[in-house]
Amino acid sequence: MITTRIIATGACVPEQVITNDDLAKIVDTSDEWITQRTGIKQRRISAGENTSAFAIGTAKQLLERAEVAADSIELIIVASVTADYGTPSLACMIQKEIGAVNAVAFDVTAACSGFMFALSIADKYIKSGVYNNAIVIGAETLSKIVDWKDRSTCVLFGDGSGGAYVEKSEECGIIQEELGSKGEIYDILSEGYTRCSNPFNDVEQGIDPLWYVNMNGREVFKFATKSVVKSVKNVLDNAGVSADELKYIVPHQANLRIVEIVSNKLKVPMDKFYMNMDKYGNTSSASVPMALNELNEKGLIERGDKILLTGFGGGMTWGTMLITW
Ligand code: ACO
Repeated sequence: MITTRIIATGACVPEQVITNDDLAKIVDTSDEWITQRTGIKQRRISAGENTSAFAIGTAKQLLERAEVAADSIELIIVASVTADYGTPSLACMIQKEIGAVNAVAFDVTAACSGFMFALSIADKYIKSGVYNNAIVIGAETLSKIVDWKDRSTCVLFGDGSGGAYVEKSEECGIIQEELGSKGEIYDILSEGYTRCSNPFNDVEQGIDPLWYVNMNGREVFKFATKSVVKSVKNVLDNAGVSADELKYIVPHQANLRIVEIVSNKLKVPMDKFYMNMDKYGNTSSASVPMALNELNEKGLIERGDKILLTGFGGGMTWGTMLITW
Protein backbone atom coordinates (compact mmCIF):
# COMPACT_ATOMS: atom_id res chain seq x y z
CA MET A 1 0.00 0.00 0.00
CA ILE A 2 1.31 3.45 -0.93
CA THR A 3 1.04 6.00 1.85
CA THR A 4 2.64 9.24 3.02
CA ARG A 5 5.29 9.16 5.70
CA ILE A 6 6.65 11.99 7.81
CA ILE A 7 10.42 11.89 7.37
CA ALA A 8 11.36 15.08 9.26
CA THR A 9 9.71 17.75 11.38
CA GLY A 10 10.78 21.31 12.09
CA ALA A 11 9.71 24.56 13.70
CA CYS A 12 10.74 28.21 13.82
CA VAL A 13 9.40 30.74 16.31
CA PRO A 14 10.16 34.40 17.15
CA GLU A 15 12.72 34.95 19.89
CA GLN A 16 10.62 37.45 21.82
CA VAL A 17 8.84 35.86 24.81
CA ILE A 18 5.77 37.65 26.19
CA THR A 19 4.59 36.35 29.56
CA ASN A 20 1.15 36.66 31.15
CA ASP A 21 2.62 39.30 33.46
CA ASP A 22 3.77 41.28 30.41
CA LEU A 23 0.17 41.22 29.11
CA ALA A 24 -1.15 42.35 32.49
CA LYS A 25 0.78 45.59 31.88
CA ILE A 26 -1.26 46.41 28.74
CA VAL A 27 -4.74 44.95 29.48
CA ASP A 28 -6.78 44.29 32.63
CA THR A 29 -5.80 40.64 33.17
CA SER A 30 -3.60 38.48 35.37
CA ASP A 31 -1.32 35.46 35.20
CA GLU A 32 -3.79 33.64 37.44
CA TRP A 33 -6.81 34.23 35.13
CA ILE A 34 -4.97 33.27 31.95
CA THR A 35 -3.35 30.19 33.49
CA GLN A 36 -6.57 28.91 35.06
CA ARG A 37 -8.81 29.51 32.03
CA THR A 38 -6.38 28.47 29.29
CA GLY A 39 -3.19 26.81 30.59
CA ILE A 40 -1.10 29.40 28.71
CA LYS A 41 1.86 30.97 30.57
CA GLN A 42 3.74 32.71 27.76
CA ARG A 43 3.82 33.04 23.99
CA ARG A 44 6.32 34.07 21.28
CA ILE A 45 5.49 37.37 19.60
CA SER A 46 7.05 38.76 16.42
CA ALA A 47 9.53 41.59 16.90
CA GLY A 48 8.70 42.75 13.37
CA GLU A 49 9.28 39.58 11.33
CA ASN A 50 6.35 38.61 9.13
CA THR A 51 4.92 35.09 8.73
CA SER A 52 7.20 34.18 5.81
CA ALA A 53 10.27 34.51 8.06
CA PHE A 54 9.01 31.71 10.33
CA ALA A 55 7.73 29.58 7.43
CA ILE A 56 11.07 29.87 5.60
CA GLY A 57 12.96 29.04 8.83
CA THR A 58 10.91 25.86 9.18
CA ALA A 59 11.38 24.89 5.51
CA LYS A 60 15.17 25.29 5.75
CA GLN A 61 15.23 23.12 8.85
CA LEU A 62 13.16 20.43 7.11
CA LEU A 63 15.59 20.25 4.16
CA GLU A 64 18.52 19.96 6.54
CA ARG A 65 16.92 17.32 8.76
CA ALA A 66 15.56 15.23 5.88
CA GLU A 67 18.89 15.62 4.03
CA VAL A 68 17.18 16.35 0.73
CA ALA A 69 18.13 18.83 -1.99
CA ALA A 70 15.83 21.80 -2.53
CA ASP A 71 15.45 21.05 -6.22
CA SER A 72 14.09 17.58 -5.41
CA ILE A 73 11.03 19.04 -3.64
CA GLU A 74 7.90 18.49 -5.74
CA LEU A 75 5.19 20.18 -3.65
CA ILE A 76 5.06 22.93 -1.02
CA ILE A 77 1.81 23.62 0.85
CA VAL A 78 1.49 26.20 3.60
CA ALA A 79 -1.54 26.56 5.87
CA SER A 80 -2.01 30.08 7.22
CA VAL A 81 -4.58 32.77 7.95
CA THR A 82 -1.91 35.44 8.36
CA ALA A 83 0.21 35.29 5.19
CA ASP A 84 2.40 38.31 4.43
CA TYR A 85 0.44 39.04 1.23
CA GLY A 86 -2.89 38.13 -0.40
CA THR A 87 -0.56 37.05 -3.20
CA PRO A 88 2.16 35.75 -3.44
CA SER A 89 1.46 32.73 -1.28
CA LEU A 90 3.80 31.88 1.57
CA ALA A 91 4.54 28.65 -0.28
CA CYS A 92 5.89 30.59 -3.30
CA MET A 93 7.99 32.78 -0.98
CA ILE A 94 9.46 29.62 0.56
CA GLN A 95 10.10 28.20 -2.91
CA LYS A 96 12.20 31.23 -3.81
CA GLU A 97 14.15 31.36 -0.54
CA ILE A 98 15.10 27.67 -0.46
CA GLY A 99 15.53 27.30 -4.24
CA ALA A 100 12.86 24.59 -4.69
CA VAL A 101 12.69 25.43 -8.40
CA ASN A 102 10.80 22.26 -9.38
CA ALA A 103 8.04 22.47 -6.78
CA VAL A 104 4.39 23.40 -7.17
CA ALA A 105 3.62 25.79 -4.32
CA PHE A 106 0.36 27.11 -2.85
CA ASP A 107 -1.35 28.02 0.44
CA VAL A 108 -4.54 26.73 2.06
CA THR A 109 -6.80 28.32 4.65
CA ALA A 110 -8.53 26.26 7.30
CA ALA A 111 -7.45 28.27 10.39
CA CYS A 112 -6.31 26.07 13.29
CA SER A 113 -7.16 22.86 11.37
CA GLY A 114 -5.01 24.12 8.50
CA PHE A 115 -2.03 21.81 8.99
CA MET A 116 -4.25 18.71 8.86
CA PHE A 117 -5.97 20.04 5.70
CA ALA A 118 -2.60 20.78 4.04
CA LEU A 119 -1.16 17.40 5.01
CA SER A 120 -4.28 15.68 3.71
CA ILE A 121 -3.89 17.41 0.30
CA ALA A 122 -0.21 16.41 0.12
CA ASP A 123 -1.19 12.85 1.05
CA LYS A 124 -3.72 12.67 -1.80
CA TYR A 125 -1.19 13.93 -4.38
CA ILE A 126 1.35 11.39 -3.12
CA LYS A 127 -1.07 8.44 -2.90
CA SER A 128 -2.36 9.14 -6.41
CA GLY A 129 1.20 9.13 -7.77
CA VAL A 130 1.29 12.77 -8.90
CA TYR A 131 4.13 13.76 -6.55
CA ASN A 132 6.65 11.79 -4.50
CA ASN A 133 7.33 14.25 -1.70
CA ALA A 134 6.16 17.49 -0.11
CA ILE A 135 6.97 20.17 2.41
CA VAL A 136 3.88 20.94 4.51
CA ILE A 137 3.95 23.90 6.90
CA GLY A 138 1.62 25.77 9.24
CA ALA A 139 2.75 29.36 9.87
CA GLU A 140 1.15 32.34 11.60
CA THR A 141 1.78 35.83 12.91
CA LEU A 142 -1.45 36.18 14.85
CA SER A 143 -0.04 39.16 16.73
CA LYS A 144 -0.76 41.31 13.67
CA ILE A 145 -4.50 40.55 13.62
CA VAL A 146 -5.18 40.53 17.35
CA ASP A 147 -6.82 43.55 18.99
CA TRP A 148 -4.28 44.25 21.72
CA LYS A 149 -6.95 46.17 23.67
CA ASP A 150 -9.29 43.14 23.84
CA ARG A 151 -8.30 41.04 26.85
CA SER A 152 -10.72 38.26 25.93
CA THR A 153 -8.70 37.38 22.80
CA CYS A 154 -5.22 38.92 22.95
CA VAL A 155 -4.10 36.65 25.79
CA LEU A 156 -4.76 33.49 23.78
CA PHE A 157 -2.51 33.70 20.74
CA GLY A 158 1.13 33.44 19.72
CA ASP A 159 3.29 33.50 16.58
CA GLY A 160 5.36 30.74 14.98
CA SER A 161 5.61 27.98 12.46
CA GLY A 162 5.96 24.21 12.32
CA GLY A 163 6.00 21.65 9.55
CA ALA A 164 6.92 18.31 8.10
CA TYR A 165 8.76 16.91 5.11
CA VAL A 166 6.80 13.91 3.79
CA GLU A 167 7.54 11.23 1.23
CA LYS A 168 5.85 8.36 -0.56
CA SER A 169 6.26 5.18 1.48
CA GLU A 170 5.23 1.56 1.22
CA GLU A 171 5.80 0.88 4.91
CA CYS A 172 3.95 3.31 7.15
CA GLY A 173 2.54 6.80 7.40
CA ILE A 174 -0.92 8.38 7.29
CA ILE A 175 -3.45 5.60 7.74
CA GLN A 176 -6.77 7.29 8.40
CA GLU A 177 -8.22 10.80 8.52
CA GLU A 178 -11.34 12.85 8.89
CA LEU A 179 -11.69 16.46 7.79
CA GLY A 180 -14.87 18.42 8.37
CA SER A 181 -16.41 21.84 7.91
CA LYS A 182 -19.42 23.57 9.41
CA GLY A 183 -19.78 26.87 7.56
CA GLU A 184 -23.22 27.53 9.02
CA ILE A 185 -21.56 28.80 12.20
CA TYR A 186 -18.63 30.58 10.50
CA ASP A 187 -19.31 33.80 12.38
CA ILE A 188 -18.42 32.43 15.84
CA LEU A 189 -14.74 32.87 14.98
CA SER A 190 -13.36 35.23 12.35
CA GLU A 191 -10.48 37.54 11.49
CA GLY A 192 -9.19 39.60 8.60
CA TYR A 193 -12.45 41.03 7.23
CA THR A 194 -11.69 43.76 4.69
CA ARG A 195 -14.12 46.46 3.54
CA CYS A 196 -15.21 46.81 -0.08
CA SER A 197 -14.44 50.50 -0.35
CA ASN A 198 -13.76 52.10 -3.74
CA PRO A 199 -14.29 55.51 -5.41
CA PHE A 200 -17.71 54.38 -6.73
CA ASN A 201 -19.40 53.49 -3.46
CA ASP A 202 -19.84 55.12 -0.08
CA VAL A 203 -18.34 52.36 2.03
CA GLU A 204 -16.18 53.91 4.73
CA GLN A 205 -12.44 53.47 4.26
CA GLY A 206 -10.13 52.15 6.94
CA ILE A 207 -9.81 49.08 9.14
CA ASP A 208 -13.09 47.30 9.91
CA PRO A 209 -13.52 46.06 13.53
CA LEU A 210 -13.87 42.55 12.04
CA TRP A 211 -10.28 42.80 10.82
CA TYR A 212 -9.28 41.69 14.31
CA VAL A 213 -9.84 38.24 15.80
CA ASN A 214 -13.48 38.10 16.76
CA MET A 215 -14.63 35.16 18.79
CA ASN A 216 -17.59 33.87 20.73
CA GLY A 217 -15.39 31.97 23.19
CA ARG A 218 -18.12 29.83 24.71
CA GLU A 219 -19.53 28.71 21.33
CA VAL A 220 -16.02 27.91 20.05
CA PHE A 221 -15.40 25.95 23.25
CA LYS A 222 -18.57 23.89 22.71
CA PHE A 223 -17.79 23.30 19.02
CA ALA A 224 -14.21 22.28 19.84
CA THR A 225 -15.05 19.67 22.44
CA LYS A 226 -17.85 18.14 20.34
CA SER A 227 -16.01 18.05 16.99
CA VAL A 228 -12.71 16.77 18.38
CA VAL A 229 -14.34 13.96 20.39
CA LYS A 230 -16.50 12.88 17.45
CA SER A 231 -13.76 12.95 14.84
CA VAL A 232 -11.21 11.14 17.04
CA LYS A 233 -13.80 8.39 17.65
CA ASN A 234 -14.64 8.18 13.93
CA VAL A 235 -10.99 7.96 12.85
CA LEU A 236 -10.14 5.30 15.42
CA ASP A 237 -13.28 3.26 14.59
CA ASN A 238 -12.69 3.46 10.85
CA ALA A 239 -9.06 2.40 11.29
CA GLY A 240 -9.96 -0.39 13.72
CA VAL A 241 -7.47 1.05 16.21
CA SER A 242 -8.21 1.49 19.93
CA ALA A 243 -7.20 4.57 21.92
CA ASP A 244 -4.95 2.31 24.04
CA GLU A 245 -2.83 1.63 20.97
CA LEU A 246 -2.00 5.33 20.56
CA LYS A 247 1.37 6.53 21.80
CA TYR A 248 0.34 10.19 21.71
CA ILE A 249 -2.50 12.47 20.70
CA VAL A 250 -1.25 15.84 19.49
CA PRO A 251 -4.21 18.22 19.87
CA HIS A 252 -4.57 21.81 18.67
CA GLN A 253 -2.97 23.88 21.43
CA ALA A 254 -5.87 26.27 22.12
CA ASN A 255 -6.90 25.64 25.67
CA LEU A 256 -5.97 23.13 28.38
CA ARG A 257 -9.59 22.91 29.55
CA ILE A 258 -10.73 21.82 26.09
CA VAL A 259 -8.14 19.02 26.15
CA GLU A 260 -9.22 17.99 29.67
CA ILE A 261 -12.84 17.65 28.52
CA VAL A 262 -11.80 15.70 25.41
CA SER A 263 -9.63 13.43 27.56
CA ASN A 264 -12.52 12.82 29.92
CA LYS A 265 -15.07 12.12 27.17
CA LEU A 266 -12.76 9.80 25.25
CA LYS A 267 -11.58 8.15 28.49
CA VAL A 268 -7.98 8.66 27.36
CA PRO A 269 -5.58 9.73 30.13
CA MET A 270 -4.20 13.28 29.98
CA ASP A 271 -0.60 12.05 29.76
CA LYS A 272 -1.35 10.74 26.25
CA PHE A 273 -2.06 14.30 25.07
CA TYR A 274 1.11 16.17 24.16
CA MET A 275 0.86 19.83 25.03
CA ASN A 276 3.12 22.87 24.82
CA MET A 277 0.51 25.64 24.89
CA ASP A 278 1.99 26.86 28.19
CA LYS A 279 5.05 28.02 26.21
CA TYR A 280 3.55 29.10 22.88
CA GLY A 281 -0.17 29.83 23.31
CA ASN A 282 -2.49 29.19 20.39
CA THR A 283 -0.53 29.52 17.14
CA SER A 284 -3.46 28.41 14.93
CA SER A 285 -2.25 26.34 11.95
CA ALA A 286 1.27 26.16 13.44
CA SER A 287 0.16 24.66 16.74
CA VAL A 288 -0.11 20.96 15.84
CA PRO A 289 3.12 20.78 13.80
CA MET A 290 5.03 22.76 16.45
CA ALA A 291 3.87 20.31 19.15
CA LEU A 292 4.61 17.31 16.90
CA ASN A 293 8.09 18.66 16.23
CA GLU A 294 8.75 19.10 19.95
CA LEU A 295 7.59 15.55 20.62
CA ASN A 296 9.91 14.32 17.87
CA GLU A 297 12.88 16.47 18.99
CA LYS A 298 12.55 15.12 22.52
CA GLY A 299 12.81 11.58 21.14
CA LEU A 300 9.43 10.63 22.60
CA ILE A 301 8.22 8.87 19.45
CA GLU A 302 9.73 5.93 17.63
CA ARG A 303 9.13 4.45 14.21
CA GLY A 304 6.03 2.25 14.36
CA ASP A 305 4.27 4.31 17.08
CA LYS A 306 0.69 5.34 16.41
CA ILE A 307 0.13 9.10 16.71
CA LEU A 308 -3.10 11.01 16.32
CA LEU A 309 -3.14 14.66 15.22
CA THR A 310 -6.38 16.55 15.85
CA GLY A 311 -7.48 20.14 15.57
CA PHE A 312 -10.44 22.47 15.22
CA GLY A 313 -10.60 26.02 13.97
CA GLY A 314 -12.25 28.87 12.13
CA GLY A 315 -14.59 28.10 9.29
CA MET A 316 -15.59 26.22 11.40
CA THR A 317 -13.37 23.28 10.54
CA TRP A 318 -11.88 20.20 12.14
CA GLY A 319 -9.29 17.64 11.13
CA THR A 320 -8.02 14.40 12.67
CA MET A 321 -5.29 12.20 11.28
CA LEU A 322 -3.97 8.82 12.40
CA ILE A 323 -0.33 8.17 11.57
CA THR A 324 1.98 5.23 12.02
CA TRP A 325 5.23 7.01 12.69
N1 ACO B 1 -8.42 38.45 32.00
C1 ACO B 1 -9.31 38.62 32.98
N2 ACO B 1 -10.64 38.50 32.81
C2 ACO B 1 -11.06 38.18 31.58
C3 ACO B 1 -10.20 37.99 30.50
C4 ACO B 1 -8.82 38.14 30.74
N3 ACO B 1 -7.90 37.97 29.78
N4 ACO B 1 -10.92 37.69 29.41
C5 ACO B 1 -12.20 37.68 29.78
N5 ACO B 1 -12.30 37.98 31.09
C6 ACO B 1 -13.48 38.09 31.91
C7 ACO B 1 -14.73 38.38 31.11
O1 ACO B 1 -14.86 39.78 30.91
C8 ACO B 1 -15.81 37.83 32.02
O2 ACO B 1 -16.05 38.76 33.04
P1 ACO B 1 -17.56 38.98 33.58
O3 ACO B 1 -17.94 37.65 34.18
O4 ACO B 1 -17.39 40.06 34.57
O5 ACO B 1 -18.37 39.33 32.39
C9 ACO B 1 -15.14 36.62 32.67
O6 ACO B 1 -13.73 36.82 32.51
C10 ACO B 1 -15.53 35.32 32.06
O7 ACO B 1 -15.45 35.42 30.66
P2 ACO B 1 -15.76 34.23 29.72
O8 ACO B 1 -15.57 34.64 28.30
O9 ACO B 1 -17.08 33.65 30.10
O10 ACO B 1 -14.60 33.22 30.16
P3 ACO B 1 -14.46 31.73 29.81
O11 ACO B 1 -14.34 30.94 31.02
O12 ACO B 1 -15.43 31.28 28.75
O13 ACO B 1 -13.02 31.72 29.11
C11 ACO B 1 -12.03 31.60 26.95
C12 ACO B 1 -12.78 32.47 27.93
C13 ACO B 1 -10.69 31.24 27.53
C14 ACO B 1 -11.81 32.36 25.64
C15 ACO B 1 -12.87 30.34 26.69
O14 ACO B 1 -14.19 30.66 26.32
C16 ACO B 1 -12.30 29.48 25.63
O15 ACO B 1 -11.24 28.91 25.79
N6 ACO B 1 -13.04 29.29 24.53
C17 ACO B 1 -12.62 28.44 23.48
C18 ACO B 1 -12.14 29.26 22.42
C19 ACO B 1 -10.72 29.00 22.09
O16 ACO B 1 -10.06 28.09 22.48
N7 ACO B 1 -10.27 29.91 21.28
C20 ACO B 1 -8.96 29.86 20.87
C21 ACO B 1 -8.92 30.44 19.54
S1 ACO B 1 -9.96 29.72 18.45
C22 ACO B 1 -9.24 28.44 17.83
O17 ACO B 1 -8.14 28.10 18.13
C23 ACO B 1 -9.98 27.73 16.84
